[in-house]
Amino acid sequence: MFEEPVFTVPGAPEAALVGGELGPTGRPLPDLPEPAPVAPGPKHALIVSLCNQKGGVGKTTTTINLGAALAELGRKVLLVDFDPQGSLSVGLGVNPHKLETSIYNLLLARDVTPQEVIRPTTVDGLDILPSNIDLSAAEVQLVSEVAREQTLTRVLSRLRREYDFILIDCAPSLGLLTINALTASDYVIMPLETEFFALRGIALLTDTIAKVQDRLNPDLAVLGILGTMYDGRTLHSREVLERVVQAFGDDVFHTVIRRTVKFPETTVAGEPITTYASSSPGAEAYRALAREVLQRCHAE
Ligand SMILES: Nc1ncnc2c1ncn2[C@@H]1O[C@H](COP(=O)(O)OP(=O)(O)OP(=O)(O)O)[C@@H](O)[C@H]1O
Ligand SMILES: [Mg+2]
Repeated sequence: MFEEPVFTVPGAPEAALVGGELGPTGRPLPDLPEPAPVAPGPKHALIVSLCNQKGGVGKTTTTINLGAALAELGRKVLLVDFDPQGSLSVGLGVNPHKLETSIYNLLLARDVTPQEVIRPTTVDGLDILPSNIDLSAAEVQLVSEVAREQTLTRVLSRLRREYDFILIDCAPSLGLLTINALTASDYVIMPLETEFFALRGIALLTDTIAKVQDRLNPDLAVLGILGTMYDGRTLHSREVLERVVQAFGDDVFHTVIRRTVKFPETTVAGEPITTYASSSPGAEAYRALAREVLQRCHAE
């Protein structure tokens, strides 16, 4: 495994981090207070979809590691694998081929309770609702259902009172499953790979979000746009991030996730980076994202 070089280009945006002033997005870093412990009493989970129809932009990696970082802060978190590829399940050590029940059963077969499908993970306070290829059949079967866009909303509404956060890992498509996820959500996070074609297709995604807000879920809000796979040593990555900030302004999270081979390694290990490489920059980045998320949701 190669070691990542540690040098930075003089004058590169992250060099400014040393002074504690400007973040990689070129804006002053906010002062994020230490999040308070969760108040005892009834819960009402905030539901957040991780969504981008472009493949391989870091949706699953962000769902797992943001979830783990929120759990570290004492939040009770449920991760919903809403992709028939089952990558979120794999990334948390669940073999999708060996599942007897999955989210599919909750959506369509309705022969089980959520408690029978939900599994704990190796991280305290972090549960998963796994999926596998059966979910691709749901996309077809849902078409003929009454209120087909609200199917996931119904499943999750019963779970809200048991969690502080429910994070939904969407598939790379804007089909009926993703519409279900957006309809069930309070917020959406859009991960964007800081690569040349990052902004391609974003108009289609924001259009879809606007349609869902208009017709199905007026309460849906964009929580933020997250730059992923950032390589501050390349002018290219910096330029793309700059353009993303020009286009979306303060919607862009101050936290940026850098490219590191540690993330593919965590998938093999079947655990989040916060436990696999607890003191790595990748783990710290997702902890910073968790604080930003709490602040933006007013849940700190
Ligand atoms: N910051 C990063 N640095 C390096 N590799 C990363 C990073 N984030 C994710 N990866 C790797 O890139 C690949 C795609 O990431 P991920 O599965 O999270 O994307 P995705 O958007 O969920 O993909 P899909 O659209 O297929 O569901 C994975 O192999 C993952 O380990
Ligand atoms: Mg994925």
